[in-house]
Parts: sequence; C-alpha cells; structure tokens
Amino acid sequence: MNSLRLSFFCVVVVLGALPYFSYAQLDPSFYASTCSNLSSIVREVLTNVSLSDPRMPASLIRLHFHDCFVQGCDASILLNQTDEIDSEQTAFPNDNSIRGLDVVNEIKTRLENACPGIVSCADILALAAEISSELAGGPVWEVPLGRRDGFSANQTLANENLPAPSLSIDQLISAFANQGLNITDLVALSGAHTIGRAQCRFFVDRLYNFSNTGNPDPTLNTTLLQSLQGICPNGGPGTNLTNLDLTTPDTFDSNYYSNLQLQNGLLQSDQELLSANNTDIVAIVNNFISNQTLFFENFKASMIKMGNIGVLTGSQGEIRSQCNSVNGNSSGLTTTATKESSQDSMVSSL
Ligand code: HEM
Ligand SMILES: *[C@@H]1O[C@H](CO)[C@@H](O)[C@H](O)[C@H]1NC(C)=O
Ligand SMILES: *[C@@H]1O[C@H](CO)[C@@H](O)[C@H](O)[C@H]1NC(C)=O
Ligand SMILES: *[C@@H]1O[C@H](CO)[C@@H](O)[C@H](O)[C@H]1NC(C)=O
Ligand SMILES: *[C@@H]1O[C@H](CO)[C@@H](O)[C@H](O)[C@H]1NC(C)=O
Ligand SMILES: *[C@@H]1O[C@H](CO)[C@@H](O)[C@H](O)[C@H]1NC(C)=O
Ligand SMILES: *[C@@H]1O[C@H](CO)[C@@H](O)[C@H](O)[C@H]1NC(C)=O
Ligand SMILES: *[C@@H]1O[C@H](CO)[C@@H](O)[C@H](O)[C@H]1NC(C)=O
Ligand SMILES: *[C@@H]1O[C@H](CO)[C@@H](O)[C@H](O)[C@H]1NC(C)=O
Ligand SMILES: *[C@@H]1O[C@H](CO)[C@@H](O)[C@H](O)[C@H]1NC(C)=O
Ligand SMILES: *[C@@H]1O[C@H](CO)[C@@H](O)[C@H](O)[C@H]1NC(C)=O
Ligand SMILES: *[C@@H]1O[C@H](CO)[C@@H](O)[C@H](O)[C@H]1NC(C)=O
Repeated sequence: MNSLRLSFFCVVVVLGALPYFSYAQLDPSFYASTCSNLSSIVREVLTNVSLSDPRMPASLIRLHFHDCFVQGCDASILLNQTDEIDSEQTAFPNDNSIRGLDVVNEIKTRLENACPGIVSCADILALAAEISSELAGGPVWEVPLGRRDGFSANQTLANENLPAPSLSIDQLISAFANQGLNITDLVALSGAHTIGRAQCRFFVDRLYNFSNTGNPDPTLNTTLLQSLQGICPNGGPGTNLTNLDLTTPDTFDSNYYSNLQLQNGLLQSDQELLSANNTDIVAIVNNFISNQTLFFENFKASMIKMGNIGVLTGSQGEIRSQCNSVNGNSSGLTTTATKESSQDSMVSSL
C-alpha cells in the first residue's frame, strides 16, 4: 500500500501535475497538541541568528522557494548527496548560493529535544520563511502546516524548475505557471527580492556585453551600472555580493517595485517585470508601488499558495529525524524500506 502510494506520487511528479492534487490539506494548528512550542522555538533561533547575520531571513525565504519549486515542498533541497540521493544542493541555482542549512539543522535539533519525531523539515522551511518575513518587517501570516518529508531529491529537476535570472518575462510566467502560480503570484513573490543579496555572476551579463551587443543592458540604470561595474569586474570570479534592493536592503517593503521604475532592478528577471512592457504585469507592479498593504496581502496569499505545491501529507513521506538525510541511514545502514522506496521511484519514473 505504501509503495503503491509512492509510485503514484512519483508518476504524478513526472506528469508535473502535482500542484493540483494535494491542495488544502494543511492546517496552521497541525502541531497545536503535539508541539505547541514549535513557533516560539523557530522564532527564538531565528531572532538570535539574525542579530549576527542580518541576511539570514532572506536566505531562509529563498530556501523555502527553492524547496517548493522542485518536487513540491518536501524538504528535498535539504538532502545531502549519497549513492541514492541526487542532491539538489549542487544544482546550478543552489550551488555556493543557498544559505541557512545549518540554521535549519539547529532548529531541528531543538525541536527534536522539545517534541521528538513530530515536526517535518518541510514545515520548518515554511515556518522559517514566515518568521523571516516578520523579522525583516514584512507581512505576518498563519502558516498552514502538516507537510511530510520526501524520500528523494532531483538535481536535474532543480536545474529545470528553478528560474534563472536571465529569463525573459514570458519564460518567468511559464516557469511559475508550471508550478500552478499565476502572474499575480510571480509579481508578488518576486517582491521577496526586497531583501537579501546576489552574487555578481548572476547579473554580470548585464554589465559589459549584454546579449553579445558589446554594450550593457539598456534597461539598467546608468548610475547603478557604474557602481555595479566597480563591484563586479569584467571576467572576475563573480562571487562579490550586492544588495537586491538598492534603497532598503534589509527591510521588507515595496521599494523593490519602485526601484524598477528607476531601472534599478538588479537581476534581469527583476527589471523584466516592468521593462518588457507586459501590460498585465506592469499594472500589478504599479498597484504594489501605490499600495504596500496590497503587496503584503498578495505576498501572504502567494507564499501560502507556493507552500502548498506538491506537499506530502497523511501517511506519505516521513518525518525525518535529521533534515539532511532520509531516515534509516543515520549510521550508514540502509533499511529495507528505504531501499524499496528508492527502487520504486526509479521504476515509476521510467
Ligand atoms: C522570479 C524568478 C526568480 C529568480 C530568477 C531569482 C533569482 C535569484 C538569484 C539569482 C538570487 C541571488 C542568489 C545568489 O547570488 O547567491 C536570488 C536571491 C534571492 N531570492 Fe530570488 N529569484 C526569483 C524568485 C524568488 C522568489 C519567488 C523568492 C521567494 C519568495 C525569492 C527570494 C530570494 C531571496 C530572499 C534572495 C536573497 C537570498 C540571500 O540573500 O541569501 N526569489 N534570487
Ligand atoms: C516552551 O518554551 C518556553 C520558552 O521558550 C519554555 O519556558 C517552556 O518550558 C516551553 N514549553 C514546553 C512544553 O516545552
Ligand atoms: C545565540 O547565538 C549565539 C552565537 O551567535 C550562541 O552562542 C547562543 O547560544 C545563541 N543563543 C540562543 C538562545 O540560541
Ligand atoms: C547512506 O549513507 C551512506 C554513507 O553516507 C551512503 O553511501 C548511502 O548511499 C546512503 N543511503 C541512502 C539511502 O541515502
Ligand atoms: C528527475 O527530473 C527529471 C527532469 O524532470 C526527470 O526526467 C527524472 O525522471 C527525475 N528523476 C527521478 C528519479 O525522479
Ligand atoms: C492568481 O490566483 C489567485 C488565486 O490563487 C487569484 O486570486 C488571482 O486573481 C489570480 N490572478 C490572475 C491574474 O489570474
Ligand atoms: C561580446 O560577445 C561577443 C560574443 O561572445 C563577442 O563576439 C564580442 O566581441 C563581445 N564584445 C565585446 C565588446 O566584448
Ligand atoms: C570584487 O572582487 C574583486 C575581485 O575578486 C576585488 O578585487 C574587488 O575588490 C571586489 N570589489 C568589491 C567592491 O567588493
Ligand atoms: C537612476 O537611479 C537614480 C537613483 O538611484 C535616479 O535618480 C535616476 O532617475 C534613475 N535614472 C533613470 C533613467 O530612471
Ligand atoms: C517599453 O516601453 C518603453 C517606453 O515606451 C520603450 O522605450 C521600450 O523600448 C519598450 N521595451 C520593450 C522591450 O518593448
Ligand atoms: C490598499 O490595499 C488594501 C488591501 O487590498 C486595501 O484594503 C486598501 O483599501 C488599499 N488602499 C488604497 C488607498 O487603495
Ligand atoms: C550534510 O552535509 C553537510 C555539509 O557538507 C555536513 O556538514 C553534514 O554533516 C551532512 N549531514 C549528513 C546527515 O550527512
């Protein structure tokens, strides 16, 4: 029965239709009686970490996004590379880029002390994203909970599904549509770039020889261009960092959108929201600029919607005891159940 369910799950993943199946089974009070201190524990760890690392809230919001866009919000991004696990952590958008894995582990350790075997790593990612928004001054919402952790990861799928910063507006729209997210979700969730940093390698193509024109991207503000050329030398290693939001880098607000009006979007995918002149998208951006409350309301709704993508619930998946590995492998021993599970995955995806 369990293996039948798993096979079904994998077939659905291959069809790419999962978002439409497992919606609306989560509940903010899921752990009310089994781990009542859950959110205070997550909050305590994140508040503390943010004092020494103000970028961490941004990194954790992104981690949840990168989890949900690959096989759904199943904590697949947290799984380390093994013979059986095709880790997503070294996929191009993640490699030397995702942060916060150690923070998630610290939260998990504390939760295992307080309520052992209860809280999934996928739920930790969702809750950490919401508390991170709060800590950065952004919207507050009740996080639907009850996700379970998957048995697999898929690096190829991470490379396919996680949007690249060079995507055009049409490519961004379709990357989000693949996840059951519409253009309102695309615009609202892109607003997460109101906090955090990006490395030069993700936008340096805009600075010197954009699309082989021999010139910079004409939709990049020339003042910002000069400053970015100073931070990101042509042909450099591309690992220098700069703020995604030029004006208020660590505050969650709607300035991300007003920056775009001045051609101060850092990534091409940011500036595309306005510069491609897609009238529906431009209208949403303008609404968010004129009404920050509206942006916050939409961000909450879209985060909840994203947090529902492909979730495992009920008897699907497991509650990992360590977020970086599937259960039954803590001492290098692989249980029969785990072996059967991974064989099922391979068979059903053929
Ligand atoms: C629309 C398509 C998107 C693209 C192309 C994109 C791309 C990127 C890139 C290239 C970075 C810099 C990573 C680095 O330099 O290591 C970044 C950072 C970030 N992204 Fe996105 N992203 C997108 C959507 C989102 C969404 C939907 C969210 C969350 C809801 C998000 C949240 C973040 C955050 C918070 C950071 C800063 C992370 C940090 O400072 O550690 N992004 N994104
Ligand atoms: C919940 O956390 C508070 C403070 O963080 C602590 O005083 C209390 O003992 C905890 N309760 C349980 C049941 O762990
Ligand atoms: C807070 O973080 C510091 C290191 O920055 C650590 O030593 C301390 O134990 C942490 N405290 C709590 C309550 O998490
Ligand atoms: C278990 O861990 C060992 C050692 O890290 C690794 O070789 C093996 O592939 C892992 N098995 C699973 C199912 O992840
Ligand atoms: C991983 O994703 C790729 C790309 O969608 C797919 O072709 C492949 O079957 C997946 N692998 C597994 C083991 O599910
Ligand atoms: C996007 O989906 C939400 C519901 O998830 C809906 O309220 C909104 O109107 C949709 N936006 C567009 C442009 O279709
Ligand atoms: C821009 O890139 C193209 C293709 O690589 C190259 O032919 C051209 O010489 C480059 N232009 C400049 C100014 O570097
Ligand atoms: C960026 O990186 C280059 C090369 O690694 C370095 O020389 C330069 O000082 C850095 N610039 C800034 C502003 O960090
Ligand atoms: C470029 O950005 C600066 C502020 O950073 C602004 O004053 C200027 O108007 C912008 N230029 C354009 C063309 O939007
Ligand atoms: C968008 O509109 C502006 C102003 O009319 C124009 O300068 C620009 O070329 C247009 N961009 C595209 C990609 O059509
Ligand atoms: C801003 O948006 C909020 C949320 O949708 C709405 O309640 C409010 O009326 C809007 N304010 C204005 C001035 O339009
Ligand atoms: C996962 O990888 C990290 C970083 O390489 C390492 O510190 C950690 O011990 C690994 N955890 C497991 C369970 O393999």
